[in-house]
Amino acid sequence: MLIVEDIQALRAQIKTWRRAGETIAFVPTMGNLHDGHVALVKRAQELGSKVVASIFVNPTQFDRKEDLAAYPRTLTEDCQHLQAVGTDMVFTPTPTLMYPGGGLATRVEVPGISQLLEGASRPGHFTGVSTVVCKLFNLVQPDVAVFGEKDFQQLMLIRQMVRDLDMDIEIVGLPTVREADGLAMSSRNGYLTVEERKIAPAFNRILREVVDALHKGRQDYPPLQAEAMKSLELQGFRPDYVEIRRVSDLLPPEDGKEALVVLGSAWLGKARLIDNIPLKD
Ligand code: PAJ
Repeated sequence: MLIVEDIQALRAQIKTWRRAGETIAFVPTMGNLHDGHVALVKRAQELGSKVVASIFVNPTQFDRKEDLAAYPRTLTEDCQHLQAVGTDMVFTPTPTLMYPGGGLATRVEVPGISQLLEGASRPGHFTGVSTVVCKLFNLVQPDVAVFGEKDFQQLMLIRQMVRDLDMDIEIVGLPTVREADGLAMSSRNGYLTVEERKIAPAFNRILREVVDALHKGRQDYPPLQAEAMKSLELQGFRPDYVEIRRVSDLLPPEDGKEALVVLGSAWLGKARLIDNIPLKD
């Protein structure tokens, strides 16, 4: 596996592969890889003849400085994981390479979707994400890029950006990979204490209860959301939101016919967890 830190080497390798007729599947990450990330790489291998991953803890998408400083950085282990699963190249730029002079004059913004839910709780977060992903797409020039449904809103944001800016990249979403007890895998789960880790699966269980209630025909969304928030509090979480939204644009549903997704975010100790469950029909 090639480990590439600079832009010139990255572009040269991509060019060589392109000339050889290879297709490129891309998996952007912030590292501290778990089985969710590995599943994305495996899916990428089915979609392209060469798989490129990136590891970059992107400072501009962190709204709290402490969170950026504390974010787990495990580059050596990450590269071992990526190599073991058969990744062809990993791009590991430094902040200076991505943000020469400390920042960029240009931003890629997707208003609307960026301001809801996670965007409301974390101002500026999604502008950081769309800008860095646009930059990474320009560097790697992939045919296809794979993202997790775990970050449902992020996936929608990327799809919108690619559509709006006519980027010739297929965006593929992969269902959330979970621990055996239902907890969505996340680099932030490492912030949980042993006690909190025992409580954490209740988050997914409570979202699942909302899904079950919807399947049984409940349509009084605000009380249902409030009940779930209350249940989370009783378990020891500090919920940010539990929302029943339509899949098409993440706005509140207006009639009973729209495809729905239940999304939530809650603090447990030092960890801010997010999860979502799209309804099957
Ligand atoms: P990161 O949190 O490292 O996630 C990288 C990719 O892995 C994202 O597409 C995310 O949705 C996916 N992922 C994380 N946990 C998952 C799980 N349990 N199951 C399936 N997929 C999962 O998301 C980011 O980094 C950044 O915002 C990034 C897109 C790299 C831009 O900086």
